[in-house]
This record gives sequence, C-alpha cells and structure tokens, in this order.
Amino acid sequence: MGPELIEKIKADMAYEFARTAPPDGFPAFHDISTERHISDEFYELEQAHLWPKTWVLAGRSEDVPNPGDYVTFDDLGVPILIVRGTDGEINGYYNTCQHRGAPVVRDPRGSSRRLRCQYHSWTYDIDDGALVSVPDERDFVDLDWQERCLPRVRCETLGGFVFVNRDLDASPLIDWLGTAADMFTPFQTSTLREVYRESRIVPCNWKVTAEAFLEVYHFRHIHSHDGVSVLDNRGAAMGLYPNGHSRMITPYSKQNLERSGLASWDDWRHLNHGQLGAIDTVPAMVDCTSTAISLFPNAIIPLGSYGFPINLFWPIDKRTTRLDWIYYAVPPEGQDRFDPSDLPDHWSARRAVYNQIMAEDEMNMAPMQRSMESPALTGIPINYQERRIWHLHEEIDRVIGPDRIPERMRMQQLLDPYVER
Ligand code: FES
Ligand SMILES: [Fe+2]
Repeated sequence: MGPELIEKIKADMAYEFARTAPPDGFPAFHDISTERHISDEFYELEQAHLWPKTWVLAGRSEDVPNPGDYVTFDDLGVPILIVRGTDGEINGYYNTCQHRGAPVVRDPRGSSRRLRCQYHSWTYDIDDGALVSVPDERDFVDLDWQERCLPRVRCETLGGFVFVNRDLDASPLIDWLGTAADMFTPFQTSTLREVYRESRIVPCNWKVTAEAFLEVYHFRHIHSHDGVSVLDNRGAAMGLYPNGHSRMITPYSKQNLERSGLASWDDWRHLNHGQLGAIDTVPAMVDCTSTAISLFPNAIIPLGSYGFPINLFWPIDKRTTRLDWIYYAVPPEGQDRFDPSDLPDHWSARRAVYNQIMAEDEMNMAPMQRSMESPALTGIPINYQERRIWHLHEEIDRVIGPDRIPERMRMQQLLDPYVER
C-alpha cells in the first residue's frame, strides 16, 4: 500500500464522486442466474471444482508454535490436519489414516513428534507424511509403504496467516495473492493475534454472505444510526485484482468527517483510537476511509489502523453457510495474546459495534435466499458499484471451468480489461 497506490485511490475517489454514469464503454451486465445460488447442480460444481482448487485461510502460525504442534481444519468439507514439522515448516495433510480411514488425530489441537493413528497405531512422519510404523506388519501381504503415505495438502503462510489448498499443482500462495498481498504489508500481520471470534450459521448460500460485503451500495440504507451513515458510497474507489481478489476504499460521509474533525473526504491523517492504539506503519488513509480487501473466494477484510476482522464464509450445504469473523490486533504490551474471555472494555466496545454491523448485514441473508428460491426473482441485476460481485462470480466460473457450467448459469467474462495487473 505504497504512496503511489494511495494517490491512485484518491484520484479514483475524486473521479467516482464526479461521474454521472458508469465509465464510457463499461459493459452492460446480464442478470446473474439465481441458479448459481440455489441449484444442486451449481453447488456440486463448486464442490467438485472450486473448493478443491483454491487457497483458503485456515489459521495462524501461532496455532502451531513448535515442531509437532498440530490443529485440525475441517472447513473445506474434508478432514485436514496442519502440523509444524521438525524443520519449522508448516505442513498440511489429510487427517485420514491410510489403513482404514480413522482420523490420525482426534483432538482439534495437540502436539506429537509422530502422527500415530489412535485406531491401530499406524504412524506417520510429521515432515513428509511417510508411513514409518505398522504394528503386526507380517499380517499384510505386499504392503506398499510408499503408497500409504499420509496424503498432503498444500500449506503456505503469509504474515502469520496459514492458507491451505487441496490442489497440489496450485500456484504458490504469494503468486496467487499477487498485489492483493501488498495491501497487508503495513499491518505487520505476523505481530497480530486473535482478539475474539464469532460464528453464525446462516440459512443461505455462501455467496449471499460474501456478496453482502463486496459493495457499499447498501451501506447508508441498512447501517445508518440516528440518520447518520458513516460512509459515502458515491466515492467508493474499487480495484479488481487477478484471481478474483479486490479492494474497496470508501470515503467518510460529511457527518462522519465533521464528527472525526476532518475537513474533507481527502483530508487523510492519523486519528486517535484511544486504548485501541495503532499500528504505526498503517497509512492515514485507513483511518479516514473504510478500506476493505477481499481474498477470493471467501474472505473479506475491512482493515483498521489498530487491527482488523476477517470475515469468512464456509459452505455447509447449498443453503447453509457458517459465517465467521475473527478480529486480529496487536496484543497488550508484555502479553503474547488476548484473553477473549476477559477482554478490556475498549475491545468489548469495539466487539459490540462490529457485531452490530454484522447483525445488520445478516438480517437480509436468509430472506434473500428464500426469494431466490421463489419464482418472483428471475435474475439478479448488478450495477457498476456492485462490480466486485461480478468479479467474484467470473472467477468462480474460471476456476470451475466455464465449459462445465450450463450456459444458462454461466457468467459472461466481461471485466478482464478492468483488472489491475
Ligand atoms: S485406521 Fe489408522 S491404524 Fe487402522
Ligand atoms: Fe453491510
């Protein structure tokens, strides 16, 4: 998030405020098919070709601080375990014993120098998953030890965040994130720790939850309090990145500028957040706007100068999603973590404010799913300021493979000329 990008965002905002229509030549979108949110067919395409091929955020490196420390990860719908090897690298494996499929580890977290299946004690190496011990080996005829290694998943980290990808041929995490990763640099994310987490089961497709955070067209309509909206959506400056990622920087509203003691929407300077503090390398823009990043497919991160929540959307079935949000910030001085059961008042207050915003967003999700399942909604028209939603859907099709998707549900690929490279 260097000065050049910040200047570009400022210029984009000025442009957005001044325009009277979408930019010349901006494509007309067809309706997005509701079948993408409600059909078994599309859900199964995602299950077969999207989730097994994409990087997802699975945890933090401090979840497994020492060699042998492991955590399980089930959110991709298959049992996975993440373990720190003797060399300090974090490895990912399927938590599926190659004997008869028992979970190799049963506890959601623990520590062990060897991964010994609790059922018949087949044992695997934490560094490469090699099968290293089989009780009563004499009773297996022609047991091929090579073939019975613990199957791997890809596991890579960025600034303390651990990502996994089931696709062994996937591009490295850092290449896949590309410029989206640069947005995190000023936040010194390896120093951040979990403040608290929340989780809700929402009866809607996972994309309904994701879409709620990809535009601010709705903001003043559902998030105003006492008639005041904190943001002015008309100036929202968006950037589309390769691989479905994107950013959205939204200026403060007039009332919020006044309240914050700022002279104009581009009067960007550091504000005082009291005991919440500040990460001193975060640019002033973050204090005077809503600066949000989306990581394809299921993470939305509204950045803040003292830390940020990550919203995650995990499909449970085609009309059920687990919506998680996990707040990260710098722990209090002299401590290496927060105690979520004993948060200081300033963090409890912050938690209440953010949870309230999330509740306002959540309110629409289940009813929208029901409407999509009703013949009353024939398609979903998307406007220019909702283009990050289109970008998400285009990328979903690219990952699944457009040819696999029946034409009536397929997205026209339109936004490539607008992607920043
Ligand atoms: S299922 Fe793991 S050792 Fe038998
Ligand atoms: Fe919202």
